[in-house]
Amino acid sequence: MSSVQISPSILSADFSRLADEVNAVPSADWIHVDVMDNHFVPNLTLGLPVVESLVKTSPRPLDCHLMIADPDRWAPDYAEAGAGSVTFHVEAAHAPIRLARSIRGAGARAGMALKPATPIEPYEDLLPELDMILVMTVEPGFGGQRFLDVVLPKIRRTRQLIDRHGGSLWLQIDGGVSAETIERCAEAGADVFVAGSAVYGAQDPDAAIVKLRQQAEL
Ligand code: DX5
Ligand code: ZN
Repeated sequence: MSSVQISPSILSADFSRLADEVNAVPSADWIHVDVMDNHFVPNLTLGLPVVESLVKTSPRPLDCHLMIADPDRWAPDYAEAGAGSVTFHVEAAHAPIRLARSIRGAGARAGMALKPATPIEPYEDLLPELDMILVMTVEPGFGGQRFLDVVLPKIRRTRQLIDRHGGSLWLQIDGGVSAETIERCAEAGADVFVAGSAVYGAQDPDAAIVKLRQQAEL
């Protein structure tokens, strides 16, 4: 069985029809929800009340990516709201170990995200506390940006660290993932692929997921 998972980002969906948009992608493994607070990133999207509603209507578990300045305060609330996975940015977290434990304690998978210029090596000892590492392949804040090839070596190094620790963590990438870039990322060792514009900008979003998955299955 393939370990490839596709997590379409609703950032590129129609926010006035979110329930329909999440139901339009039955081939998705997760629904990626980008929470932005206009402090950690220069953009503002949605927050806890929308996640609490989406949890009830989404056919797939929610993969919440918190691009917020105070994840220590807010991330556990997303887990308690019923998100399947909650990812905080290490650049913003004050106490990442305590935070990962409280996310897990509330019943969600704990993810830690790295901006493109943040190295993974200082955080190697945290891997046992985590279920997923998210390596950003664009600067966080907006959908539809160009994939940053310069991050590929970090994806490879992160895969090596994960394998050294037993290989149970997932390695997610987010930003500029498309039919043109997904194979490079899979080859570098990613196994969970976030795609916003490549899915919701397509004529048939579900068919786009099927195609991306085929391309990532090496
Ligand atoms: C960007 C977000 C992404 C975004 C990706 O900060 O974290 O999840 O939706 O969009 P695309 O796939 O269009 O680059
Ligand atoms: Zn995201």
